[in-house]
Amino acid sequence: MPKQEIAYDDYFQQVNKILGSTGLLLAAGSPDKPTNAMAIGWGSLGVTWGKPTWTVLVRPSRFTYQLIEEAGDFTVNVPSPDLTDAVTYCGTHSGRDQDKLAKLSLAVDSARKVASGVIQACPINYECKVLGSSDILPQMLSDTVKSECYPQGDYHRVYFGQVLAAYADKSAAAAL
Ligand SMILES: Cc1cc2nc3c(=O)[nH]c(=O)nc-3n(C[C@H](O)[C@H](O)[C@H](O)COP(=O)(O)O)c2cc1C
Repeated sequence: MPKQEIAYDDYFQQVNKILGSTGLLLAAGSPDKPTNAMAIGWGSLGVTWGKPTWTVLVRPSRFTYQLIEEAGDFTVNVPSPDLTDAVTYCGTHSGRDQDKLAKLSLAVDSARKVASGVIQACPINYECKVLGSSDILPQMLSDTVKSECYPQGDYHRVYFGQVLAAYADKSAAAAL
């Protein structure tokens, strides 16, 4: 059965809890490039510029960064507990070297409104179109954040993605 549409903020608490523990899967690709996924542990679901948005932080060294730049969109995929090892794998290997999702036997579905694909096995998927992005400026950070999060000076680019579609396998999502 196809996943059912949800409001962007349904499951807000569950999603935030997983973001701060296992991590979520941020995916991007295009008709030319297979969808790739990386783990994210930082981000926020909310409202920016009057629109529902996922705000995600991606270091330029990530292959996913390149894919988001090319596609102009991304998807955020919420894993169930049985996907914990897959999230760790996607967070410790690069799609530059291999097709991680194929290796993990995670099927990618075409998205409804964006070019990047969604991960079928994840109970909740969000499709996001990049409305804008902004690079973190070191001089705007506290010394604590600078030393704790950027010892190598690899500052994130922050992407603001308008949530164009959100849907869930409601029985799997209820168990999150
Ligand atoms: C739990 C977890 C959370 C992570 N969160 C982020 C994040 O928010 N932003 C980021 O740039 N990298 C984050 N990473 C690191 C990337 O997921 C990792 O470098 C990944 O291998 C990049 O894959 P790619 O080169 O295929 O894009 C995280 C890793 C883990 C394990």
